[in-house]
Amino acid sequence: MLRASLDPLPASRIREVANAAMGRDDVLKFWFGEGDLPTPQFIRDTAKAALDEGETFYNHNLGIEELRQSIAGYVSRLHAPRATVGTDRVAVTSSGVTALALIAQSLFEPGDRVAIVTPVWPNVTAQPRIMGAEVVRVPLSCHDGRWRLDLQRLLDAAPPGTRAVIVNSPNNPTGWVMAQEQWETLLAHCRRHGIWLVADDAYERLIFDGAAHAPGVLAQIDPDERFISANTFSKSWTMTGWRLGWLVAPRGFIASFAKMVEFNTSCAPTFIQRAGIVAIERGDALIAETRARLHASRDALVEQLARLPGVECAPPDGAMYLFFRVAGRSADSLDFAKRLVGEVGLGLAPGVAFGPEGEGFLRWCFAAQRPLIDDGVSRLARFLA
Ligand SMILES: Cc1ncc(COP(=O)(O)O)c(C=O)c1O
Repeated sequence: MLRASLDPLPASRIREVANAAMGRDDVLKFWFGEGDLPTPQFIRDTAKAALDEGETFYNHNLGIEELRQSIAGYVSRLHAPRATVGTDRVAVTSSGVTALALIAQSLFEPGDRVAIVTPVWPNVTAQPRIMGAEVVRVPLSCHDGRWRLDLQRLLDAAPPGTRAVIVNSPNNPTGWVMAQEQWETLLAHCRRHGIWLVADDAYERLIFDGAAHAPGVLAQIDPDERFISANTFSKSWTMTGWRLGWLVAPRGFIASFAKMVEFNTSCAPTFIQRAGIVAIERGDALIAETRARLHASRDALVEQLARLPGVECAPPDGAMYLFFRVAGRSADSLDFAKRLVGEVGLGLAPGVAFGPEGEGFLRWCFAAQRPLIDDGVSRLARFLA
């Protein structure tokens, strides 16, 4: 009944586990990718004030000029001294996932080859597939306590004629962060063969080595090159429910992109965009706090899990997830996740939700208060015992 490219898309396996907990209030929920703190008051107040001032109308397809300027300034500062991004390279979208969807609608024809580093948040692979593109998955591997990318494997998966390579780093679900040299080799390869390079930068600020942002090549891109960075307010500014994102893309792309926004969402709500401006202008302390909290939670979780029998995990370098497995126990991750909820009320995402490479793993979102994490680890210990 539906288009052929939609049929093979799997239904959300995270939802399948969450549905098993419907109506229960004793479940610790670490399955979704968001923290448990609401957006800070100064951001909420700005949206309220904009509503009170009657900012309830349609607006520009590419975002209000003030927000595009804020984003252009922010991206240029963050990637200084080499980056100068003008507003003509910026489009505002109604969330990061909408940015990814509209990029896919703008770039991909049926049959186009798109190489993607996996496991990955399922929406990243679903968007090209919805357009009929052929997604080639390039799996990370986990050895010596680290997630690693065999870069040659990615380059081989993207021969001349490939339409795009998509990399999400820091990665959801593994917390893997692509090294600067790998980015640069990949960029050189894409340049040589005219391949679009799409960076899903949703977690670029959430890294634990003290750097301002994750490695990447945005600063090296000329204004008209085939490079797109998709981003979101959701994670860095704790604004998941607001649905606000943006992308940085070549100038010619942005001009046509306005049409894609028009036909899909027409524009992001103005009062939400006002909140986005203040998040950028006054949000540095918020990001620093979020990173510090995530860093501490990561360390606590990794340390406690290491003491449980059979638990194998690679400490994430970024994002907000730990991707781990339990030797001899979690091979069927969906079944394992459902039993964890049913028997001890621990809500984790099954690794298979992120692709076949994720099977056998569980994803734990550690953007949570310390007592909840401690309780979760005790529940897992009880279950394993
Ligand atoms: C890898 C990745 N990219 C993009 C997003 C988009 O976030 P949003 O649609 O909330 O802006 C997410 C959200 O979980 C994500 O994990």
